[in-house]
Amino acid sequence: MVELRTVESDDWPIWRELRLAALAEAPYAFGSTLAQWQGAGDSEDRWRARLEIPGAHNVVAVVDGRPAGMASGVPVEHAEDSAELISMWVSPAVRGGGVGDCLIREVARWAVERGATSLSLSVMPDNKRAAALYERHGFMDTGVPGDPLPDGMGNEQVMAKDLTNG
Ligand SMILES: CC(C)(COP(=O)(O)OP(=O)(O)OC[C@H]1O[C@@H](n2cnc3c(N)ncnc32)[C@H](O)[C@@H]1OP(=O)(O)O)[C@@H](O)C(=O)NCCC(=O)NCCS
Repeated sequence: MVELRTVESDDWPIWRELRLAALAEAPYAFGSTLAQWQGAGDSEDRWRARLEIPGAHNVVAVVDGRPAGMASGVPVEHAEDSAELISMWVSPAVRGGGVGDCLIREVARWAVERGATSLSLSVMPDNKRAAALYERHGFMDTGVPGDPLPDGMGNEQVMAKDLTNG
């Protein structure tokens, strides 16, 4: 059974555990690296600050009592009608079971609730599994180049979902 929990600053140890697992398990999927969040980068203050992004909605998926997935919705600066889906990860042990679906639906619900008409995200161009999941949820390639890839060869793909058509 999948249960979704909204996490706040005080829940930083759970978020930290999941995020470090995500960066270690799927380094190909994220702009951030494990190294950036280890050692000196691994401080309580930093994790709390991540969970205190103003207006953000941070969600943990708990499967059979264990934290096993995560995603956030964050406001887009200078665009009140937009929100962004970030930090999406599902533990390999429970992949293919619809946890990703639950997380996307929850972030989209939150975005609609806060008045957003569009939900965007960035995905690595070779992350076909994630892109297929997003397409299934109505996200489409915007054609807008995202952040440059770590190797400098190309850009992240920016996808967006229209939230006005239900
Ligand atoms: C992308 C991701 C979040 C999807 O989560 P999920 O809970 O597996 O999502 P779903 O259950 O909807 O399954 C996604 C697809 O993987 C397929 N799948 C089946 N078994 C699987 C398994 N054991 N492992 C992985 N994927 C599997 C599903 O059938 C589904 O395919 P479909 O869309 O053609 O039906 C997850 O694979 C993940 O965390 N990947 C690494 C991090 C990542 O890429 N994050 C996105 C950053 S933009």
